[in-house]
Amino acid sequence: MSDFEEIINTRRSIRQYQDKDVDDDLILKILKAGMQAPGSRLGAEPWEFVVVKNKQTLAKLGEIKPRVTGAPVAIVLVANIERAFYKTVWQQDMGAAAENMLLEAVNLGLGGLWNGVAPDEERMGQIGRIIGIDEISNLKPYCIITVGYPADGLENKFMDKFDESRIHYEKY
Ligand SMILES: Cc1cc2nc3c(=O)[nH]c(=O)nc-3n(C[C@H](O)[C@H](O)[C@H](O)COP(=O)(O)O)c2cc1C
Repeated sequence: MSDFEEIINTRRSIRQYQDKDVDDDLILKILKAGMQAPGSRLGAEPWEFVVVKNKQTLAKLGEIKPRVTGAPVAIVLVANIERAFYKTVWQQDMGAAAENMLLEAVNLGLGGLWNGVAPDEERMGQIGRIIGIDEISNLKPYCIITVGYPADGLENKFMDKFDESRIHYEKY
């Protein structure tokens, strides 16, 4: 199995982490992976990232998204829709970045979780207030990616999700 196959097949949602910091250079690699994602218009990618390591801020985020609690780092993916060329597809751009980040986390020996925020307006407002963007109308919190070293008993491991019946050739 190539490294790529290994990463893509073993990525799992990891919801609990060891009490161990993630080095900044690993966080930067995850951010770089996010920015390598395809976007609906080259040069008009909407993504911005708020890296949260402060324990109090993490706890506040955890009140809205419980799985953030206990994570050593949370990255809030924020869409700057002013920058987007195609204004209606920002959630798709952001989703591509989010998945790239989760895969890079696996590549680095970490576990990660996609904590959904958008399109729930109330949740977006709550998260926006915590990270200080609620007054800025062009900034939309999309999701929170938590990463860390998987807690004891948790690991990225293969789970077969393939279902041949979902595949249709030429016509449905
Ligand atoms: C759009 C989206 C939102 C999600 N939101 C949450 C969430 O809020 N909390 C959570 O525990 N998992 C969340 N997940 C993770 C899914 O529950 C998880 O990917 C799914 O159960 C499949 O498991 P796997 O990631 O291990 O393959 C989300 C995933 C996606 C794609």
